[in-house]
Formats: sequence, structure tokens, C-alpha cells
Amino acid sequence: MVKAASVYDLVQPLVTLGQEKRLNQWLAKYIKIPARSSVLDVGCGTGLLTAAIAASHPDVTVIGIDASTTMIAVADRKRRSQNCTYQTALAEKLPFPAATFAAVSSALFFHHVHFELKKRCLQEIYRVLKPGGRIIIADMDVPYTKLGWALSLGAWLLFRQPEIKENIDGKLNGLITECGFEDVEKPARFSGYISVWSAVKGE
Ligand SMILES: C[S@@+](CC[C@H](N)C(=O)[O-])C[C@H]1O[C@@H](n2cnc3c(N)ncnc32)[C@H](O)[C@@H]1O
Repeated sequence: MVKAASVYDLVQPLVTLGQEKRLNQWLAKYIKIPARSSVLDVGCGTGLLTAAIAASHPDVTVIGIDASTTMIAVADRKRRSQNCTYQTALAEKLPFPAATFAAVSSALFFHHVHFELKKRCLQEIYRVLKPGGRIIIADMDVPYTKLGWALSLGAWLLFRQPEIKENIDGKLNGLITECGFEDVEKPARFSGYISVWSAVKGE
């Protein structure tokens, strides 16, 4: 993972077909966060989305968590700021009390974890969100272009990870609803294979 963390920022624009900046800036603008509240970015990697949210919302506190200490070390070195910090933690066991965050974001994390873990992570996100809080998730979904299909099936054939296949089969959508979220929508798509989900925790 040390190597992955050090080259991650170079690889990410390639796997998103040049859309990495556009995607993160779109998410950072779309997420609605009340002033002086806190946001959690789950599976933050090197902090690309975490830092984009912090830059667009200087009046909120953003925390990025990731299971990998080397990813967190890179995020901390490159993208820590006054309102943006990082810590090592598991998405399925978030070290925060219930109803802590006004919003939770996550980009390209869920295709890394298997179905039961996807569910546990969504349940944990639900727990730490305040009532009325919003989630915004960008991840692999049923592809919608030929290139998107080629990339997704290529990744699936290369890595043979059921976690990826679950996303290509569109299983994330139902899980979000099953975990209690309401008003589940897909407001945007990127790169032929990435969907954005938006949903809220009821009051
Ligand atoms: C493809 S990267 C996405 C990073 C970042 N969100 C972005 O968009 O650039 C996926 C990240 O999920 C992290 N991850 C995998 N399993 C995890 C878990 N159970 N809890 C927290 N992070 C995890 C990996 O360490 C990796 O940094």
C-alpha cells in the first residue's frame, strides 16, 4: 500500500478518464452543509475529495478517514489544512459518536469492500449522521457507455474481485435504501461507469 499511496494521485486522473478534478469539485459543490458543522469523508485515500470539500466550505470542519496508514500519511502531508484533518479508521467501525456529522461523503471506496461490509459501512455512516443529514457517494455502478463497460469489465477481469462485480451489477443502490436512507437519487454520472448517489437520514 506504500507504493499505491505514493502514486495514487498520478493514477486517479487516468482511471477516471481525466475526470478526477471535475468529479471531486462537483461533489464538493453539490454537498449541502450547514455553516460551522462537520463533514466526514469515508475511504478518503490521499484526501482529494476531502480537501476539495474543505476548500469549497471554509466554514465547516472536514475529517477524512481511511483504513490505510500510508494513504493517511500522504493525505496529511499534502492536504491537511485548518479545516481539514485525517485519521486512520475503518469505515465499518467509525470512531465517532452517533449523530456527529451533518454530511458524509465517499468517493470510489465502496467497490473495495464486499457486500456484507458495504452494508456495515452504510449502517455506520447512518449512525454517525445527524437526523436530516445527507450522504453523497460516487462509485462504480452499471456502466452507461461502451468505454465505461470496457473499463469496468477490464477491472473485474484483471482483479477478479466480487466487490467490483457487485457494483457493476448495480447492487449499491438497493443497499442504500435497505440501510434506512431516504430520498435516494442519482444526480450525476461520470466517466461512463461512475454514479453519484445522494440520500438523507430522516429527521
Ligand atoms: C480508490 S481509493 C479512493 C480514495 C479517495 N476517496 C479518492 O476518491 O481519491 C479507496 C480507498 O478506500 C480505502 N479502504 C478500503 N477498505 C477500507 C475500509 N474498510 N475502511 C476505510 N477505508 C478503506 C483504501 O485504503 C483506499 O484508500
